[in-house]
Amino acid sequence: MICGSEKNSYFKSQNLKILGQGKLNGIVEISGAKNSALVLMAASLLTNERITLENVPRLTDIEKMGHILKYLGVNLVDKNNKLEIDSKNVSITEELPYELVNGLRASFFCIGALLSKFGKAKVPLPGGCNIGSRPIDEHINGLKALGAEIIIKKGIVVAKIKEKKNKLHGTHIKLKCPSVGATETLIMAASLAEGRTTIENAAREPEIQDLCQMLNKMGARIYDSGKEKIIIDGVNKLVGCAHKVIPDRIEAGTFLIAAAATGSSITISPVIPNHLEAVTNKLQESGSKITIKGNSITIKGKEIRGVNIDTAPFPGFPTDLQAPFTALMTIANGESKITETIFENRMNHIHLLNKMGASIKLNKNVAHIKGVKTIKGMDLVGSDLRSSAALIIAGIIAKGNSKIYGLEHLDRGYENFESKLKMLGIKITREFNKRSFTEKEYKITSDPEDIPKRRAA
Ligand code: UD1
Repeated sequence: MICGSEKNSYFKSQNLKILGQGKLNGIVEISGAKNSALVLMAASLLTNERITLENVPRLTDIEKMGHILKYLGVNLVDKNNKLEIDSKNVSITEELPYELVNGLRASFFCIGALLSKFGKAKVPLPGGCNIGSRPIDEHINGLKALGAEIIIKKGIVVAKIKEKKNKLHGTHIKLKCPSVGATETLIMAASLAEGRTTIENAAREPEIQDLCQMLNKMGARIYDSGKEKIIIDGVNKLVGCAHKVIPDRIEAGTFLIAAAATGSSITISPVIPNHLEAVTNKLQESGSKITIKGNSITIKGKEIRGVNIDTAPFPGFPTDLQAPFTALMTIANGESKITETIFENRMNHIHLLNKMGASIKLNKNVAHIKGVKTIKGMDLVGSDLRSSAALIIAGIIAKGNSKIYGLEHLDRGYENFESKLKMLGIKITREFNKRSFTEKEYKITSDPEDIPKRRAA
């Protein structure tokens, strides 16, 4: 019997078979950051000149963003982890088709670049059928403050610069919450606006700093990215450049957590250690030994002590690593409390970990975990990107075999995950099944990374 949830897709017929109680050993190469690469691809729309992006991870999300850019008229050449993006023939005639943007929240982040460069944009609301509750208010209100007229008609966001003006104009924007996507949308929009824009209560995530670094190479004038107040002096034109995507701190953190959970010793590289400070601090607090040398981090997993975690915007503990860290805490000595503060429905992994023998009580967004000695292998379906990663870590820890389904989520965000784990010594194989599963076996849920709900109270 398979437990969990999944969407209809051909990935239904694939799973990862994991032999439990594995140990990791060796060095693992960390890929480029998915969330950086996605927004940098959107930013490439701001210039008519070529953008060369290096260290782009090969992921289904990146592929989807590539399809969107091509639909807009971008000439995109994909050379293994390197993208050459030429946007000189882009034109905005009709809206992006819903099938293209569906399931890729980052597709909506194109709106700022399109509006600012072409004076208009038509982008469907991101995500599945749960349209009514999807918050994009911070993006919309900010763009309106910059001088856009926006209406939402039949699920399409139609934006244009107010009549008689051909440019957005700089202004002061104060975000209600430090939304990563809204900060990115508004930075891109303000880059080609007239005058100075300040964004207060801006998100400070490393991916935003990466975006600003690339935009500045393109000729933008952005100051203080990574701080709570970002200043953008609009310029008339942006030019081409080459840019290397920063390492993926979430992938890096996932490997560190897997090593901690199995008492293993591994080195991850390349990474930017201060992007992972909240994570390495918690891993140390829970008993692992961490050594940082240049752009690599070595972890020696030892005893595992229960620790408490509250997810928070950067530099706090990332929500994207909450599920993997919960898997680690299932076998900790003592109790731990994990509080999800960013997303409302990001606890889908809890009941699955309990099925494996974990002892977790969930009260809204707070998981109270009593560490157990062992958990047991099972067949499970991951329901979103990070919970799939958590289940794989649980499968590695567990006694016996596990089969983890729902790989369409995993393949969105982890490049060559199973081959990297295999190289580190884990017995893991992708299986292709002959039969697909009934709807009863798969319950459909949404992916919090795709369909974020309002910040929990
Ligand atoms: C990005 C990341 C995602 C990560 C999240 C938080 C990408 C492609 N995805 O998502 O992996 O988990 O940051 O670090 O970069 N909100 C509003 N109004 C808005 C926008 C957001 O209320 O207009 C709320 C959301 O409901 C959520 C919170 O703000 O509660 C944070 O969301 P946000 O930072 O915008 O996440 P994303 O940019 O979508």
